[in-house]
Amino acid sequence: MTQASLGESVVQKTVQAQQNNGVAASATHTQPLWLLAEVTYRCPLHCAFCYNPTDYDKHTQNELTTEQWLQALRDARKLGALQLGISGGEPLLRDDIEDIVVEAKKLGYYSNLITSGVGLTEKRIQAFKEGGLDHIQLSMHDITEEINNFITNTKTFELKKKVAAMIKNHGYPMVLNVVIHRYNIGHLREILDMAEALGADYIELANTQYYGWSLVNRSQLMPTKEQVDEAEAIANEFRANPNNKMKVFFVVPDYFSDRPKKCMNGWGEVFMIVTANGDVLPCHSARVLPNMTFPNVRDDGLAYAWQDSPAFNKYRGDAWMKEPCRSCSEKENDLGGCRCQAFLLSGDAEAADPVCSKSPHRHLIDQAIIDSRNPQAVAQPIVFRNDKNSKKILAGELDDRVKAFHAVP
Ligand code: FES
Repeated sequence: MTQASLGESVVQKTVQAQQNNGVAASATHTQPLWLLAEVTYRCPLHCAFCYNPTDYDKHTQNELTTEQWLQALRDARKLGALQLGISGGEPLLRDDIEDIVVEAKKLGYYSNLITSGVGLTEKRIQAFKEGGLDHIQLSMHDITEEINNFITNTKTFELKKKVAAMIKNHGYPMVLNVVIHRYNIGHLREILDMAEALGADYIELANTQYYGWSLVNRSQLMPTKEQVDEAEAIANEFRANPNNKMKVFFVVPDYFSDRPKKCMNGWGEVFMIVTANGDVLPCHSARVLPNMTFPNVRDDGLAYAWQDSPAFNKYRGDAWMKEPCRSCSEKENDLGGCRCQAFLLSGDAEAADPVCSKSPHRHLIDQAIIDSRNPQAVAQPIVFRNDKNSKKILAGELDDRVKAFHAVP
């Protein structure tokens, strides 16, 4: 699931949250409506656009135990969390997802398993159904086996179609997520046809956002402006046809906009992410930010993390802003955009998101758009998300590649 679709779901659930009974009142004005449990960073897929941290390898040895996850669910519920995303890596690599699902149901969460489908068997989906799992979101990659297998660096094309049928057979709404990039953007019409043929109720076309592995592979993944415009027109055309019942959500790529996105619906406003090793984060990428210490469920309660930790309070609201955000009439709408993107591209976490036309760093985005037409940049090999490459990144062996995007030019 992407940040954008998480945000939309939150808005839909806000009213219910306000009416929610049995949840302790938060000491702050906000409550974590969403708990995203990134239960493992292990994954059988090696997607070039994965948003997991590039240095995830250092977090794979110390995953939270089942009991620690159940406690995190209880604590987040007390704070007001209503929606639970069970994500990864591939969450099904853990054999305790059934226990997490049962606890989520008992606590009254709306639970959503976000999966590649690898590891979803009849036995497990039956257990999830009986345990009260509400929703399964399946990632798909393309209509062609060639591109599915290339971009994930696996052979999973046929398996995904079988899993889609299994999800449908068990009475779940069919919710597909397709990350859009240069390799599949030209197949959008066919992807929509495939989703309809699979009986999808909802498809999220999530244009790649450039964090983690997708930032390392930005030159290879980023489509041209014309490709994005055409893709959006196809999505709009599909939505405009009253015969098409499948809902289509098109996540607009922020690089091609001149206004930044209100990332995560605001820092520390509605999302709380607990990572595989227990770190508590306001967004998936927050650990890239310098000079910040994030709470961990092993040492700190979730109430402390949400209400009192310096990390969650650092970019709440707009008091932290400097110009041009501080005096901008849009600041309450976008809250200055994404802190991680601001840091990754400009080197300054408090700068305006470089996507913004008022940002002094907008030229970095414009250069990326120019580079998307540069055959030499596009032709560089992809760094696939895998343990070997994560170790290389940790050892600094891919520094040149990574620094090309992280450093101030
Ligand atoms: Fe946007 Fe971290 S990813 S604030």
